[in-house]
Amino acid sequence: MGAVIIGKKELKRQQILALDDPHCECIKYPGDKSLKERAAKKKILFGTAIRHPLLSTDKEYARSLIEECSILVSEWGFKWHVYPKPLRPTPQSFDFAAADVMYNFARSHGMKVRGHTLVWYMSLPPWFEKTVNRQNAKDILEKHINTVVGRYRGKMHSWDVVNEAIEPRDGHPNGLRKTPWLEFIGEDYIDLAFRLAHKADPEAMLVYNDYGLVYDRPQDEAKRHAVIKLLKRLKSQGTPIHALGLQAHLDGSETRFNHQILKDFLAQVANLGLKIMVTELDVTDKDLPLDIKVRDRIVAKAYSNYLKVVLEEPAVIAILTWGLNDKHSWLNEFQPRKDGASVRPLPLDAGGKRKFAWNAMARAFDTAPSR
Ligand code: G3I
Repeated sequence: MGAVIIGKKELKRQQILALDDPHCECIKYPGDKSLKERAAKKKILFGTAIRHPLLSTDKEYARSLIEECSILVSEWGFKWHVYPKPLRPTPQSFDFAAADVMYNFARSHGMKVRGHTLVWYMSLPPWFEKTVNRQNAKDILEKHINTVVGRYRGKMHSWDVVNEAIEPRDGHPNGLRKTPWLEFIGEDYIDLAFRLAHKADPEAMLVYNDYGLVYDRPQDEAKRHAVIKLLKRLKSQGTPIHALGLQAHLDGSETRFNHQILKDFLAQVANLGLKIMVTELDVTDKDLPLDIKVRDRIVAKAYSNYLKVVLEEPAVIAILTWGLNDKHSWLNEFQPRKDGASVRPLPLDAGGKRKFAWNAMARAFDTAPSR
C-alpha cells in the first residue's frame, strides 16, 4: 500500500485502513438513542467529567450532559486545589461550593456521582508544601478523607481514592511514583487511604485510578505489570479496594494497539475480583492531519477499537469520557495542535453536535455483551 500523505502528514497503515473501510461503524449515524440509553441496555453506566462553572453559563452544555449521561465526575471540584474555588483553601478549612454544584446538578437529574480524587500528587494547594511533613501527613490525610468522603456518605457511586501512584521510571522497587505521600508516609499510604475511605463511607465503591495502560509499548507494559503487582498486594492484605479505573487517554496517532494484550490485562484485573471502569476516555488528535473528516474518522476508529476490547470484559461496569464536547476538553490547553486548529477528541463537537466518535461509541454499546 503506497504512502498516503494528507496535509503534509503521512498516515500509517492502520490509519489508512480506518479511512478506507466503507463499513466503518463510525460513518453511518445509528439513530438518536442516547449513549446512556444504549449503555444502560447492557447494564453499563456512561458519563463524563464536567466543568461545574459551565452548568450555569452554557445551557446547551448542561442539556447534552442530561441527555447523554447517567454518571458524572467533576473535572475540578473534588480535587484539593483547582480553579476556580479550591476544596482546601487552608490546612484547617474546606470549601464544598464547587463540589456541591456538580453533586446537586447530577442528583437533581437522577445521575450517579463519582468523586475524583482523594489522594494525588498534583493539584495540591499552595500551603501543602510548607505545611505537610512526616510528622503530620497521616493526620492531614485522615482529616481530608474523613471530611470529604464523610460529607457525601451513602450518596456516591465511587471514589478515585488514589490517583496515578505508579510510575516505574521513578525507580521504586514496586514501581511507585515518588510523591509527597510516599515520602512522608511510606508505601502504606495507599492502603491507609482506602481504609480511611471505606470507614468514612462503607457503601462507596473504592477505585485505584491510573493512565498509560493501553498500548503495546515498553512503558505501558511496565506500568501494567506494576499496577497488577500493586492490586495483588492490596488484595492480599485485605485493603478495601473494589475497582481499577483506566483513565484511557488514547492517542489517535498511536498504532501500537494490541487487543489481546489489553484483553489479557483486563482479565488479570477481573480475576482479582475487581470491577473495572474507564474513567477519563478521550482520543488526542494533536498529531493527526488537519483535515477534519480524516481526523474524525481516525479518532472514531480509536474509540471503536478500544471499546470493542474493553466492553467484552464483563467486569467493566462504566465508561466515562473526560469531557463531552471538544470545546471543553483539557486537551485544548494541555495538548494543543501545532497548527493551532481546535482539537476534536470527544464524542460531541464544539457546538454539541454528535460526531463519528459518538457513532462509534453508540455502536460499541449496541454490540457489547450485556452484564
Ligand atoms: O483557567 C484557570 C485560570 O483562569 C487561572 O488563572 C489558573 C490559576 O491556576 O487556573 C486555571 O485553571 C486550570 C484548569 O485546569 C482549567 O484550565 C488549573 O490551573 C489547572 O490545574 C487545571 O488542570 C486540570 C488538571 O487535571 C489538574 O487538576 C485539568 O483541567 C484536568 O483536565 C486534569 O485532569 C486530569 C485528571 O484529574 C487525572 N488524570 C489526567 C487528567 C488530565 O491531566
